Order: sequence, then C-alpha cells, then structure tokens
Amino acid sequence: MHSIFLHLHPRQVKQSATRFNRTFGLGGMAVLLIVCQLITGVLLRFYYSPFPAEAYNSVLFIKHNVLFGQFVRNMHYWSGVFLLLLAFLHFLRVFLTGAFRDKRKTNWIFGLMLLLLIVLLNFTGYLLPWDQLAYWAITVSTNIIGYLPIFGQSLRTIILGGNELNADTLRAFFTFHTALLPLLLLVLVVYHFWQVRKAGGILLPDGEKESEMVPVMPNLVFKEFIVALALIAVLFIFSALFNAPLLQKANPTFSLNPTKAPWYFAGVQELLMHFHPFFAAFIIPTSVMVFLAWIPFLKYDNPPTGIWFISEKGRKSSEATAKFASIITLFGILFNEYLLNFELLLSPIPAFISNGILPTLIVVGFMAGYYKYYLKKFKLSKEELVQAVFVFIIAAFIVLTLVGVFFRGKDMALTFPWNAW
Ligand code: HEM
Repeated sequence: MHSIFLHLHPRQVKQSATRFNRTFGLGGMAVLLIVCQLITGVLLRFYYSPFPAEAYNSVLFIKHNVLFGQFVRNMHYWSGVFLLLLAFLHFLRVFLTGAFRDKRKTNWIFGLMLLLLIVLLNFTGYLLPWDQLAYWAITVSTNIIGYLPIFGQSLRTIILGGNELNADTLRAFFTFHTALLPLLLLVLVVYHFWQVRKAGGILLPDGEKESEMVPVMPNLVFKEFIVALALIAVLFIFSALFNAPLLQKANPTFSLNPTKAPWYFAGVQELLMHFHPFFAAFIIPTSVMVFLAWIPFLKYDNPPTGIWFISEKGRKSSEATAKFASIITLFGILFNEYLLNFELLLSPIPAFISNGILPTLIVVGFMAGYYKYYLKKFKLSKEELVQAVFVFIIAAFIVLTLVGVFFRGKDMALTFPWNAW
C-alpha cells in the first residue's frame, strides 16, 4: 500500500503544496470517484442487459431483486454526477490559479479532453435504463446535434444508428459507456498525472517556491485519506437517501412534457430557446471551446502567479464580471421570453439573421461595451482581462444551466422550480 502511494507522488513535496486550499483535493477526489464508477459499473454489468426489450426490466431486477442492487445503482449514478461537478470545480481552480499556462499548457488541453470524456460517459450512461426520462432526454440531445451545419444530420444518424433511437443506439451507447470511454479515461488520467509530475508538481505562488521539503507520507497522504473518507461518507449518504431516477419504460409514441436534455446540456438547450439553432448549438459552444483551448497559447504580460484570481484587482474585477454576466444573462432570458421575440417581430427577415446574427451581435456588443468602459477602470493586465472573459462565460453558462434545469416547466415555459418537474 505504502509503495502504491509513492508511485502516485514523489517521495517528498514542498510543505506549502500540502495546504488544503491549494487544490481543495479536487483532482484526487475525481480519481476516487472514477474508481468508484468502475467498481459499481462492473457490479451493475452482472445483471444489466443492453437490449431494448430487456434493459428496463434488468434495471428493475437490479433495484428490487439484487442484494444492495438499488444502493449500488445509486452509488454509480451519484458518483457520475459528482465526478462531473468535481472535475468542473477542478477545472475552475486550475484556471483561477493560473496553472494552465507555460509548462502546464499540454496538461490543460488533456484536462479539457478529460472533461469532455466525463460528459460523454454521463451522456452514454443516461440512455441505458431505457426509461422515459432516458429515451426523451437522449432524443432532444441528439436533435441538438442534428442542428450542427453540413454534417449535423449525418452525425445524428451515425450516433443513433438510424433516424431515431433503436436497438443499435442502445448497443452503441452501451459499448462506448462500458468499454471504449472508460479505457480512454484511464489512459488520459495516467497521462494527466504524469504531466503533473513532469511539471514539478502543482503551481505554487512565488513566495512559497522555496518552502521546505517534507515527506509525502504522512504530510500529504494523510490529508488525502481524510478527504477520501469524507467523500465516501457523502456518497454513501446520498446513495442511501436519494434514488437514481427511473420512470416508466421508454415509450417512443408518448413524449414527456417538458422534454429536457440531461442537466449538463441544459445550458445549450436554454440557448436554443433564444438563438437560431446554428448559433445556439454550433457557433456559441464552438467559440467557447476554441477560447478555452486557445488561452494557454496567448502571450501574457507576466508569468503565472499561482495566486487565486492573480491579484486583488483580478479578484475584484472577476467578482464584478460574475455579477454583471449573471444579471445580464437573466435579464436577456426574461426580455426575450416576455418582451421581445426577434423572430416574431422581424418575421419578414430570415430567422438566421433575426434570431441568429442579431441577438449574437447584441450579446457581443454588451460584452465589448462592458470591457471597454467598466474593466478599463480596473486597468487590467492581459491575464486579468482573459480571466474576466473566462469568468463572464462561466457565470453565463451557470445561469443558463440553472434556468434550464430549475425554471423550465410544461412546454418549456418559464416557471418556478416546484412546477418544473
Ligand atoms: C478525470 C478528471 C481529472 C482528474 C482525475 C484530474 C486529476 C488531477 C490531479 C490529481 C491533479 C494534481 C493537483 C490537484 O489535485 O488539483 C491535477 C492537476 C491538473 N489538472 Fe487535472 N484532473 C482532471 C481533470 C482536469 C480538467 C478538466 C482540467 C482542465 C481543463 C485539468 C487540468 C489540470 C492541470 C493544468 C493541472 C496542473 C495544475 C497545477 O499544476 O497546479 N484537469 N489534475
């Protein structure tokens, strides 16, 4: 056991690297959840059957007839949800401490791939119970893929193995979920760890680089052990109290109302309520992904500091930007929903312009105006400015997701959370 930990860590680390608020143990917790996913996934696999006629009943069998079946299913479900949330928080911490630049830029790109993989793992797993929730959530999500230009429809047909969900879709999702994606995830995680070691450990602020070296056992491993125990306790409590969802068996002739995409795609689904599909499903998500992949390669004014939010000025401008982005996104949603529907108002003009180019230009205009007049006042360096753009995108994305998950009800109309399900 001792040597397993020593393979994951160097023998000694800088004292300051062992402080909990450096990383909040988020990367380590993600690893633990992956292990949990693998173990519970293999256990479920003993009884699950990936055929439309049998899948739902096999899940019912696991729930009611297998010893601890419901609990294991819940553990698998909740560790998947937590994994996505923790990987997202880890991604935020890496960015907000500036650890995505210089010798860590390759690892940032591989980290983005890991995030994508975790989304795909959750997405492919979503269909497997073959209940109404799964069937219709995957139907709307793959419809979103169909909006991609040129190859969208073909890609949708390839993913579904036909024009709608069928036995081939379930078999393909099952194979990706249980074999290809986990294998890829393991390879990428190992590479990710190796890159952290290659970069000399985590990024530390300048003043702490000379901190004394201490043995990794027990200084770091003990803290990791406590975090691991706490995470397992939370996971157990959640799995004991809250069951993974399971509605009636999938019925292709009767759709749910509202039909919502899985929660991690709720932001994109919300965008579709306001923008032409070409912009909501393609231009905006692609621009965000290009921005995220591009930021490590920009030229910055100063080396990375390793300090949260770069500086006091960076923290203040990020706070102001998060508030502004949240308010403007909420305001935009309400305005478009109740007051000004560009597509109806400008009906003689093609929707691509009235509901695509026009609202996109308005959003970009708002962002540009904000950066020009408001952030100028902070006299930001280049890295603080990039941080503000990042914070803007993340805050808007979180608001869109929350509205999509909690405030959309029947016919996808805006409503209060207690009417949303
Ligand atoms: C399965 C998902 C992931 C796992 C298991 C994982 C694991 C880890 C671990 C254990 C560390 C060491 C320090 C820490 O705990 O923060 C780390 C560092 C790092 N991770 Fe991840 N990570 C994952 C996803 C990501 C994502 C989504 C990104 C960003 C897009 C990312 C980028 C990085 C970078 C750049 C570092 C170096 C940070 C530094 O030197 O301070 N990782 N990761």
